[in-house]
Amino acid sequence: MSLLTKPGPKTKPGAIGWLALAKWVAIAVVSLAVVVLLAKWMRSLEPVQDFLLSYPGQSELPNGAPVGLPAWLGWQHFLNAFFLILIIRSGWQVRNTARPKGYWTRKNAGLFKTRNKPTKISLDLWFHLSLDVLWLLNGLVFVVLLFATGGWVRIVPTSWDIFPNAFSAALQYASLDWPIENGWVNYNALQLLSYFAVVFLAAPLAAITGVRMSPAWPKGNAALDRAYPIEVARKIHFPVMLFFAAFVAVHIALVLSTGMLRNLNHMYGGRDDASWLGFGVFAFSLAVMVAAWFLARPIFLRPIAGLMGKVSR
Ligand code: HEM
Ligand code: HEM
Repeated sequence: MSLLTKPGPKTKPGAIGWLALAKWVAIAVVSLAVVVLLAKWMRSLEPVQDFLLSYPGQSELPNGAPVGLPAWLGWQHFLNAFFLILIIRSGWQVRNTARPKGYWTRKNAGLFKTRNKPTKISLDLWFHLSLDVLWLLNGLVFVVLLFATGGWVRIVPTSWDIFPNAFSAALQYASLDWPIENGWVNYNALQLLSYFAVVFLAAPLAAITGVRMSPAWPKGNAALDRAYPIEVARKIHFPVMLFFAAFVAVHIALVLSTGMLRNLNHMYGGRDDASWLGFGVFAFSLAVMVAAWFLARPIFLRPIAGLMGKVSR
């Protein structure tokens, strides 16, 4: 065999790679600086100042909107984060594991007895789908309670001025003179729109694309498959995960940088002050999530999967 046909060593990021990275970092820093300067200049203009007075960055809530974050929301929010982190981990494993460490086949009996034979799936996908069911149930309870208590007006736009207000909030963030935070009473327009997008757009999109790829999708129905091709679902599902990851990163960064103790007390302490209670509960909940992340291995998952079906190698 000639030298030319031999598979070469895998390329490592060399000097060129680092140079390209440095170039992109420099471009990002310069672009950010330009945005900040531009926003500061805009805010010095009189018409823009008038605009900011008319649209301060948050829309008024309808009369009778509830004030404060109830305890049930804290629980829901924790469970949502807990499941989501494991959903991302297991989805990543489904995507990147060439030889799964185990398989799972549903028991075809009782309530879930079907005419078709159950599909054998990897243990990673079993874990992903089981978490999805729990996450969706938690989400369903959240939406029902949100509407039953009237809390929905805090995360669903109720007036068109949400858009100029979102622009106003964006301008304030970009000029580094951030909008006033008062999440206990009302979120700013950008915050409201992102919460709305996560709950009412991204979560349903993850579910309808996920179900299309899952064994729950009816088999052997050509018309249905043609109307909603699996490739479409596959192309959307992964970017939805990226959206969730980006949302969580920005969300946590803002929670920590805009009055951390007060914000954490809102969600984890059910109170609006700057004591350390919320921080303590948050730290404990973080420890629970980290522990679950490390325990989510085949050695612990296999016995649980075994209760719900047949586990094989
Ligand atoms: C574990 C890290 C997280 C922390 C520390 C955190 C913290 C918070 C805090 C403090 C608030 C209230 C904001 C305020 O009062 O100004 C909040 C609200 C919210 N968070 Fe998170 N969060 C986390 C993860 C997540 C995740 C993973 C999601 C969803 C993917 C999420 C979605 C939301 C939503 C939708 C609200 C608004 C809830 C409502 O008022 O109905 N959070 N979060
Ligand atoms: C809520 C219902 C959901 C269902 C029913 C579902 C179902 C599925 C299924 C069946 C697969 C396997 C696809 C295949 O075999 O190629 C998959 C992959 C994956 N899921 Fe989900 N999923 C859901 C939610 C989520 C959420 C919320 C996230 C992340 C935020 C997520 C992240 C992923 C990732 C990253 C993959 C790998 C995608 C790839 O290979 O390109 N899933 N999901």
